[in-house]
Amino acid sequence: MSRVIDLVESVARVRSVVAQARDLGKRIGLVPTMGALHGGHVQLIRRCRAEADFVVVSIFVNPTQFGSAEDLDRYPRPLEDDLRQSESAGAELAFVPSVQTVYPHGAVSTFVEVPGLSDILEGASRPGHFRGVATVVLKLLEIIRPDLAIFGQKDYQQQLVIRRMVEDLQVPVRLLTSPTVRELDGLAFSSRNRYLNQTQRQAAPALYRALERAQDAVARGERRADGVRQILRETIESEPLAKLDYAEVAHADTLVPLGELEKGRRAVALLAVWLGTTRLIDNALLTE
Ligand code: PAJ
Repeated sequence: MSRVIDLVESVARVRSVVAQARDLGKRIGLVPTMGALHGGHVQLIRRCRAEADFVVVSIFVNPTQFGSAEDLDRYPRPLEDDLRQSESAGAELAFVPSVQTVYPHGAVSTFVEVPGLSDILEGASRPGHFRGVATVVLKLLEIIRPDLAIFGQKDYQQQLVIRRMVEDLQVPVRLLTSPTVRELDGLAFSSRNRYLNQTQRQAAPALYRALERAQDAVARGERRADGVRQILRETIESEPLAKLDYAEVAHADTLVPLGELEKGRRAVALLAVWLGTTRLIDNALLTE
């Protein structure tokens, strides 16, 4: 089947195509991605299409959010497959800029910092990561000027950082967060899952198992966050191939670590786990 989705690489062109759609009265939706699309991305595109009339998927492996020892060079880039999936999920346009287009002055660039939220958890393990994320997302919002943009709960801290940036800089966009999409065995879809070998892949649902046990404990009356942290840690440690980076129970809006789980206070459990050289993250809301 031939492709009908438009692929646009330049800022001028994407602005003019989006302007035409807006002139027709269409609401513009944006789904930012780094490509290597999977069931999680597809769900974001569908959800976006349900809320907007014209959906732009951006596909850009953003160098500034990768640390120097990270996987920028080997990050998968299956463009044709990404375009097919974007189209069948309902997107009308793929914006696929080059690094030069997004960073015209190279690494010596203007950056956006979201202090506090960017420095803990993922930010502590990956210094500079959220600076790169916030910067590229602001650029995409400025280039496309969508009415709404959608992000996954899978990257819980990321969507909080982006919400804070949009509030602080008064960016006129509505943000949606869409639930985590999982494989049948509970493993959250991630572009990095394809780095796992067979035995690591079999071990990977330990993250979801740990989060489910944490949720169960809270449902049975556990109120001590340390008790929940211990369940998360023990479940990951019982999987010999897995190495825990962090297991945290935090306030769902601020990510401040909690002592007690209290009625009416939204809490989230967050995990980062190594399987060999692959780092996986996952999270779950804890409602008592
Ligand atoms: P990427 O990892 O490609 O993810 C793109 C979007 O898909 C993010 O909003 C992410 O949270 C969401 N997503 C990933 N896996 C998901 C899953 N299993 N279920 C639901 N949503 C999922 O996140 C990024 O790219 C980048 O940091 C980006 C925001 C594009 C900035 O470069």
